[in-house]
Amino acid sequence: MLVTGLEILKKAREEGYGVGAFNTNNMELTQAILEAAEALRSPVILALSEGAIQYGGKALVGLVRELARDARVPVAIHLDHGSSYESVLNALRMGFTSVMIDKSHEDFETNVRETKRVVEAAHAVGVTVEAELGRLAGVEEHVAVDEKDALLTNPEEARLFMERTGADYLAVAIGTSHGAYKGKGRPFIDHPRLERIARLVQAPLVLHGASSVPQELIERFRASGGEIGEAAGIHPEDIRKAIALGIAKINTDTDLRLAFTAFVRESLSKNPKGFDPRKYLGPAREAVKRVVESRMELFGSVGRA
Ligand code: G3H
Ligand code: 13P
Ligand code: ZN
Repeated sequence: MLVTGLEILKKAREEGYGVGAFNTNNMELTQAILEAAEALRSPVILALSEGAIQYGGKALVGLVRELARDARVPVAIHLDHGSSYESVLNALRMGFTSVMIDKSHEDFETNVRETKRVVEAAHAVGVTVEAELGRLAGVEEHVAVDEKDALLTNPEEARLFMERTGADYLAVAIGTSHGAYKGKGRPFIDHPRLERIARLVQAPLVLHGASSVPQELIERFRASGGEIGEAAGIHPEDIRKAIALGIAKINTDTDLRLAFTAFVRESLSKNPKGFDPRKYLGPAREAVKRVVESRMELFGSVGRA
């Protein structure tokens, strides 16, 4: 069933578990995410970026909406990293139940003003809003304290920002970054800062760039001819700890892309004579489902639907 983002996330923050926001671009990814959610009785958020909407158009959004409506667990359809008021309005018209406005690269006052405008429009049609404060650059352990401070979310500013904008959930910058290269070894994540933010902000908190980039997937990707450097993600223990401190929405895209691509590569190279797309997209869909299930177990959302 289709619900708002806040309906899912409020309960998660109050009860101390996390819900995955998984990015989708096509039918197979969408099915994999929803099948995992139904199998494990977990609420879930289907995230579509502006790039995904552009790629899949009405066909993709229609399919996502249809499958989400039919699902036997609560599902929100979420605009990931909405870059403008117009982009958010477009998502609202298409039936999204959760939108993100990301003005984190602007100065504080502009971020407040633009976010507030989006909140008014979204709330008028019963849709809930994610905003972001702080920069999501990769921040290494050795970066100077004042440099980190300028990039990462300031707890007092976060409190003020939520008060002034009326946003429903807040993406915080605590050291994670998008993609497969989040740092060396065990990438840095600033739990003490998160703890300070969570004390001042009661709204659900969001962690972007949360993929764990499992070594097993990297090896599989390489074994099938893929090329990838020193990839590293957020350690599962660091995610668990972040959830205990107030993170309720955990964004995962890279892990799904890696699984999907590794299994497509593997299927194609195992069967060079084949040319039936179902023969390589099917195993990729199953692989993504397994990754989503293991993320749901890690987040503690199993059995919460
Ligand atoms: O945070 C961004 C997501 O991973 C989506 O990426 O803009 O390439 O679709 P995309
Ligand atoms: P990853 O690249 O770590 O999967 O993060 C995805 C994300 O934050 C989407 O908004
Ligand atoms: Zn993101």
